Amino acid sequence: MNNRIERAHWASRFGFVLAAAGSAIGLGNIWKFPYITGKNGGGAFVLVYLLCIVLVGLPIMMAEFLIGRHGQRDAVGSFESLEGKGSPWRLVGWGGVAASFILLSFYAVVAGWSFDYIFKSASGSLGGKTPEQINDLFGALVADPGRVIFWQFLFMAATVGIVLGGVRGGIERWSKILMPVLFLLLLLLFIRGMSSPGAQAGLEFMFRPDFSRITPEALLDALGHAFFTLSLGAATMITYGSYLPPDSDLFTLSVRITLLDTLVALLAGLAIFPVVFAAGLEPGSGPGLVFQTIPIVLAGLPFGSFLALIFFILLAFAALSSSISMLEVSVAYLIDEKGWRRNRATVLVGSLAFVLGIPSALSFNRWAELKPLFDRTFFDLFDLLVSSYMLPLGGMFVALYAGWFWKGEEEKNELAASAPRPWLFPVWHFLLRYITPAAVLIILLNQMGIWG
Ligand code: PHE
Repeated sequence: MNNRIERAHWASRFGFVLAAAGSAIGLGNIWKFPYITGKNGGGAFVLVYLLCIVLVGLPIMMAEFLIGRHGQRDAVGSFESLEGKGSPWRLVGWGGVAASFILLSFYAVVAGWSFDYIFKSASGSLGGKTPEQINDLFGALVADPGRVIFWQFLFMAATVGIVLGGVRGGIERWSKILMPVLFLLLLLLFIRGMSSPGAQAGLEFMFRPDFSRITPEALLDALGHAFFTLSLGAATMITYGSYLPPDSDLFTLSVRITLLDTLVALLAGLAIFPVVFAAGLEPGSGPGLVFQTIPIVLAGLPFGSFLALIFFILLAFAALSSSISMLEVSVAYLIDEKGWRRNRATVLVGSLAFVLGIPSALSFNRWAELKPLFDRTFFDLFDLLVSSYMLPLGGMFVALYAGWFWKGEEEKNELAASAPRPWLFPVWHFLLRYITPAAVLIILLNQMGIWG
């Protein structure tokens, strides 16, 4: 296991921020955030979500980076290198590996839809359509299992292709190109949303809280999504942190990544909701929301189909920069712990994740009525399992570890040391010790009907 000496590191701090922000920014921001905000009634949900990001998400992100950077191995190995071989904490690493693997399987299905929309925009089939017709196109796509699985396969192949290139040549290089372009385009869509007749209604929907909409399920969605969108609890940030050199200021880096992620989610919401209201669509319409609204917004613009093309290319790229981070978690495990070569690990994990994703792809068509558990399809079950349980629990154990069990006081204190911030360590430690575990526990118990 001499990987420690040859271990790759990010080429620059900027490259790292973009790669980690690339992991964070993805379908979660552009596809999921708007539709769960719609489902949970807007303003109040957004507020709870923002609180979860600051009080729960940010401190856990810092803890994950810190664990990875000191461990200098994959997630399982990092816990072992901090706590000794065979330490039970390695199970937290394992949980993360499992979560990111299952997540990758169904993430590729949705990301595949964006490939189909690239194709639709390029071939002009989105042009000259009424909003109803555009709505129907989405239904027709997901109803076609062959088509969905074809795109899912291509997306997985692209993910594998990038991860084969490794940390610097693959992940970092691509993120540096993709993220800035994505950002600019969203800005444009945001301006378009704000100048649409639905702007006022959209703003009110997102920012005027109606607290009667806060149900236990809305709380669980908000907390779960804070983990999902920041890529926490899935060992991703531990793995990315392990490629960090020892002297970077983790607080500043984490704040930047969190801000970028939040900004993109809000921009996406502000681009989408005005159109929803202007076109008389239903904000709670579910997973088809972006695929139905964005083509409608763009249809009325000069160069609309060209912009739609760019948008879906970027959505696919945002998804790719996230899916590569999910794949990298298992690949790093196989390389660091089992001594596998990168190529073999990447192709194997990618293929397995593709196969596991097939039931999710079928959940919208052939198996739409097949509800193995809790009256949910495979897709909904995997999403529930990962987003509502595995990620929050994974994050909670990271918090418990860093807050209570990790004895390396000096190591943790370095958070404050790289800049004169005497307040930082105590605040961070307090949040990890009390607030995060309590929030996760209360919300989970409540959701399971055990408490409250
Ligand atoms: N943060 C990613 C998104 O918003 C999803 C993700 C979750 C990626 C967990 C890695 C790990 O799309």
